Amino acid sequence: MNPVRIAPSLLAADFTDIGGAVRSVEAAGADLIHLDVMDGHFVPNITFGPAMVAAARRCTSLPLDVHLMIQNPERYIDAFVEAGADVVHVHAEVAPHLHRLLQQLRESGVGTGLALNPLTPLSVLEGALPYLDAVLLMTVNPGFGGQAFIPRSLARIEAAAKLRDAARATCAIEVDGGIAPGTAAPVRAAGADTLVAGSAVFGGAGTIADNIAALRAAAS
Ligand code: DX5
Ligand code: ZN
Repeated sequence: MNPVRIAPSLLAADFTDIGGAVRSVEAAGADLIHLDVMDGHFVPNITFGPAMVAAARRCTSLPLDVHLMIQNPERYIDAFVEAGADVVHVHAEVAPHLHRLLQQLRESGVGTGLALNPLTPLSVLEGALPYLDAVLLMTVNPGFGGQAFIPRSLARIEAAAKLRDAARATCAIEVDGGIAPGTAAPVRAAGADTLVAGSAVFGGAGTIADNIAALRAAAS
């Protein structure tokens, strides 16, 4: 199994001090930084665009994991790559021409991620796996931080890991939504290796360093 990676989501950080948030999670041993881009169309919420990714890029050398919850992602990939994204996740639900979109990501030189909503059939992975560096399984409905983990996600994580292994693919299995020390252990046991966490890092019981350590301990 791939080693555990912790990816704090800046969605739950103090937007008046993004540089401070990025530096704090880096100092606390985060493995990558997750940035949630929302357009108010694919999801009901609006967050930020490439300028925020560029701002984060200026504050850290950690990989930037950009989660596009937007329609027409093909129009914006270049802007996010230029801003400094290392991985860009697109949602399967917005991509009628998914093969073309994944090829576009590959050709742009950025890591290729495919995000799936909680009830999107996993069968899309059978064709997509050879193109992917990461599968991003939503364990809540996308759009907001602070929601409760959907328990049925565990079976999906297991099934996605099996599909990945059967295809002899090596992509990361990343989970996003409701990840806290209590859910980190079961998602890890089910086969997830990359854990996105917003509230549990920036709004958890302890300092940011304590909260990241608690997630890592629970998942190890
Ligand atoms: C939700 C976002 C998540 C969000 C997770 O649409 O994709 O990355 O930040 O927040 P928590 O960890 O609070 O569930
Ligand atoms: Zn996300």
